[in-house]
Amino acid sequence: MKKKSQPILPGSTLGILGGGQLGRMMAMAARTLGYHVRALDPDASCASRFVVDKLVTASFEDADAAAELARGCDVVTLEIEKVSQASLRAAAKHAPVRPSATVLEIIQDRIKQKTWLDKHGFPVGPFSVARTAMQLAGAALRMQAPAYVKAARGGYDGRGQFFLTAPEMAEAAWTELGARPCVVERALSIEAEVSILVARSPSGETAVYPPSLNHHEDRILEHCVIPAPISPAIAKRATKIAKEIADAIEVIGLLVVEFFITTDGKLLVNELAPRPHNTFHGTEVGCLTSQFEQAVRAVCDLPLGSTEPVRSVAVYNLLGELWLSSDASPRGSPAFDRALALPGVRVHLYGKREARAGRKMGHISAAAKTPKAAVALVKKARAITRAERRWPSARPSSTRRRARSGRWSRSKRRSSSPRKMPRPPRRASQGSMRGSTSSTKRSRRLRTRSADKRPAPSSSISRAPWTLRPKPSASSRAFAISPSNTRGHASPRPP
Ligand SMILES: Nc1ncnc2c1ncn2[C@@H]1O[C@H](COP(=O)(O)OP(=O)(O)O)[C@@H](O)[C@H]1O
Ligand SMILES: [Mg+2]
Repeated sequence: MKKKSQPILPGSTLGILGGGQLGRMMAMAARTLGYHVRALDPDASCASRFVVDKLVTASFEDADAAAELARGCDVVTLEIEKVSQASLRAAAKHAPVRPSATVLEIIQDRIKQKTWLDKHGFPVGPFSVARTAMQLAGAALRMQAPAYVKAARGGYDGRGQFFLTAPEMAEAAWTELGARPCVVERALSIEAEVSILVARSPSGETAVYPPSLNHHEDRILEHCVIPAPISPAIAKRATKIAKEIADAIEVIGLLVVEFFITTDGKLLVNELAPRPHNTFHGTEVGCLTSQFEQAVRAVCDLPLGSTEPVRSVAVYNLLGELWLSSDASPRGSPAFDRALALPGVRVHLYGKREARAGRKMGHISAAAKTPKAAVALVKKARAITRAERRWPSARPSSTRRRARSGRWSRSKRRSSSPRKMPRPPRRASQGSMRGSTSSTKRSRRLRTRSADKRPAPSSSISRAPWTLRPKPSASSRAFAISPSNTRGHASPRPP
């Protein structure tokens, strides 16, 4: 008989492997519940740095550091897949690690993950595995271009992928992805993308959120909305599959299942994530329990919270571009004050020190009565946020007059909050975000990034799929994505 585990009560310490935005938001929820939080991340200035009691700065491969983190914790969880098996197993000697190293072993390798899904009878699109250049050439022929070549390990937000428009490009793909084992997937004609979030506790309790409808631009999530305005039949089927996957893999914590709905009506599993997920940030305001609180409840074996939606919520990711001018030089702060003036709109920034193109810096959420209205509102908020800020007219006119006439006394100036003081726009070399990186280094990085030729986040929100509408077919998109667009470079953690 299954032993009932003891709840890990508030006042205990939660360890999080990873200190990015997902870890930060989980840490904030844990603190609200009264837990102490420690995190491990390679970056000392990671997004979690101000919200945890202790940050262990170490690589995800450093098993000793993972053990050190776990020694001071009652339970350990994670916010990123790329923690080494050695680290997970070292941590497990000191505290329960949820989800387990075994779950991670399957998920952190695309080859194992796809094969596991296929073997367990879950629906996946046509794929082939390649471990050598020759195998990749063969797989490219079998899959028929266009196809996605995805490195088995380390990819996220479309990075570590190569879009193959002809089988002859297999060699270029192999080199570009760093001569690593990979999965080749036939490029599907996608009508819509949805995801399902399942929470599972050690006591065997399960809670499922309403599906999220997700819109990607150039393989990175741009915006999403919950509850997904899709047919109840598809929602039911996706929910059933997601629950079955969570049970079969025996996840403890959260599991997100990403699905493709193809133009010929198939529902296929794209990939799994054993952690909070970008597509469920809307649960913060749209459901009775946020995904972050639910993650804490699940790994601590507390009763799971209600996943009932209270409003429709759309979320729009704020990428680094928002802080940069068209020539990639830093610009003033986005006009969040104007976006926040819209009822139902909230801004969540992750406290990252430096804006880089394609880096997730925060998100805007918009709550409304219907998914369609929520998407329209988030679109409006996002557009306002992008508006050019003009200095010094951003400050109140009386303040402006006083400053111009010199009637602003020294003492008044000193006592005022610096943020309320009129300030000229920063020079490009000063940067728009606090950070220690030199402007030269920064502009070099921006050049590299802009070489991605990622189309600027566009007015695509106007194409928000609140009703299912066909996307351009894979073949028609083939020309938009070239080898130079590949995000094959490895970076320590998602941006
Ligand atoms: N086989 C495919 N057919 C069509 N589009 C795909 C395919 N694989 C990936 N994509 C697109 O690229 C996005 C990112 O791919 P995904 O496999 O989810 O990687 P990541 O781990 O970067 O999220 C998907 O959400 C989808 O929009
Ligand atoms: Mg994905």
